[in-house]
Amino acid sequence: METKTMNHISKSPISGKEYAIPEVKDDKAGIDAYIAQHPDKKVVVVQGLGFVGSVMALVVANALTEEYAVMGIDLPTPASYWKIRSINEGVFPVIASDPKIEQYYQNALHKKNYYATYDSYAYSKADVIVVDINLDVQKKSTANKDLEGYNVDLTPFKKAIEAIGNYCKEDVLVLVETTVPPGTSLKVVRPILENALAKRGLTKDKLKVGHSYERVMPGPKYIDSIQNFYRVFAGTDEKSTEAVESFLRTVIRTDEYPLTKLGNTNATEMAKVLENSFRAMNIAFMVEWSRFAEEAGVDIYEVVNAIRMRPTHKNIMLPGLGVGGYCLTKDPLLASWARMNLFGSEEKLGQSEKGVHINDKMPLYAFEYLQSQYKEPLENKKVLLLGVSYLNDVGDTRYTPVEGFYDQLELENCAVTLHDPHVKYWEEKDIWVNQDLNELLKTDYDLIVITTGHKDYRNNKFLLEVIKNKPACFVYDTIGVLTNEEIKYLGEKHIVKVVGRGDL
Ligand SMILES: NC(=O)c1ccc[n+]([C@@H]2O[C@H](COP(=O)([O-])OP(=O)(O)OC[C@H]3O[C@@H](n4cnc5c(N)ncnc54)[C@H](O)[C@@H]3O)[C@@H](O)[C@H]2O)c1
Repeated sequence: METKTMNHISKSPISGKEYAIPEVKDDKAGIDAYIAQHPDKKVVVVQGLGFVGSVMALVVANALTEEYAVMGIDLPTPASYWKIRSINEGVFPVIASDPKIEQYYQNALHKKNYYATYDSYAYSKADVIVVDINLDVQKKSTANKDLEGYNVDLTPFKKAIEAIGNYCKEDVLVLVETTVPPGTSLKVVRPILENALAKRGLTKDKLKVGHSYERVMPGPKYIDSIQNFYRVFAGTDEKSTEAVESFLRTVIRTDEYPLTKLGNTNATEMAKVLENSFRAMNIAFMVEWSRFAEEAGVDIYEVVNAIRMRPTHKNIMLPGLGVGGYCLTKDPLLASWARMNLFGSEEKLGQSEKGVHINDKMPLYAFEYLQSQYKEPLENKKVLLLGVSYLNDVGDTRYTPVEGFYDQLELENCAVTLHDPHVKYWEEKDIWVNQDLNELLKTDYDLIVITTGHKDYRNNKFLLEVIKNKPACFVYDTIGVLTNEEIKYLGEKHIVKVVGRGDL
């Protein structure tokens, strides 16, 4: 959450508090004092306190069969320093509808076993280091969202691993949970750590490196998606595999959700990106069928629900505004990049890349469908967008498809008002978002667009009533939130259109 003008200040988007970033980056005394409070506990350091790492660290601080002293480490940058301070001051840096987050956090505060820092000295204390940092794909796209190319720059990731290598114990377990290009643990992480240990005159023989990926679902089941869910893992050698397994057994409910061990880390890394590519492809596949349904006067929801009756076709996707979030928008590209750059293939994963490309264009398709149905120019219209985050019931705006749609409205000089119950500040756009729906609905709009499928917008009789009582306008549901009855009810007065529903 960068404060654009002051790069020595880091502002919390949760409390609004501003923190001055220390000039001298030394927290040795803080770390030593924390460790002294927990002399008999194993130390787990989680690298990266973002949406995944901060919660993974929380789960480790509430491990099932072992008491750990947990440290979270992040960068002292304007974007991230506030997370460190916030954790130590009693405000968890992630807003989520899962009540377990606050419960687990209060428990960790009570036990005093979750400390956050920016000092790499923390790695020297660790028995286990969990790597949960970001590894980004740089996409090049035209204004029309055509993917022109992309790049994967491993430099920041390598630096993060080097920081570990410069401090870690020689028998540490480094567990990579970042989504990485397949091949990374064996070809990148292990060699960097071995070299760093050798430079420090330490042996590489005791080092353990493994990979296990998160299936985190931010939202009402945030904690359970880490602790009470199936996990895939592997090590870079036998002792690493054993160490990863023993560690995971202490934090994850493996009695109910048995671990899945794969042959090596190339396989687990591939499993992660294949799993996400499958989902991204499934969505991309529906895009052209939605358009076909719109042209053919067919209700794609009715069609999909009929097909879902077949057990083999239960997970066929529904249409929407687009694909957002940090994972599905990049993971197929990470895989394709790895194929060519880490395994020397001349072939990319063409279909998977195309899936990302199609998904990136979905907001534009949704906008074009609106234009085709609106019948008059959209220029200067008053528009209310219901939902800013990329997914229902979460506050994450990273790569939200709402952005592409919003940009098109801006090009038409529309006056756009934003509502989202989970987003106060839209960081990527540097816009504050209104959370008071009642207040917003006092105004009249030419267009009301449902852009995120939050449960606040579903089966909401009050919302329906207020919209019904407004002067005639255009209601556009891009997610399929409205039921047939609701569409009929609103349609008595307004024009109602839904993405993928050519029957309306
Ligand atoms: N739902 C999800 O978001 C999800 C689900 C499964 C897996 N993942 C994967 O988990 C990983 C983390 O994702 P995220 O959503 O938490 O990302 P994020 O951007 O929210 O958090 C990453 C954090 O790592 C920090 N960081 C970067 N370099 C660092 C370094 N050298 N040392 C210490 N900290 C550093 C950043 O400052 C940031 O706070 C990614 O690989 C992602 O693909 C994400």
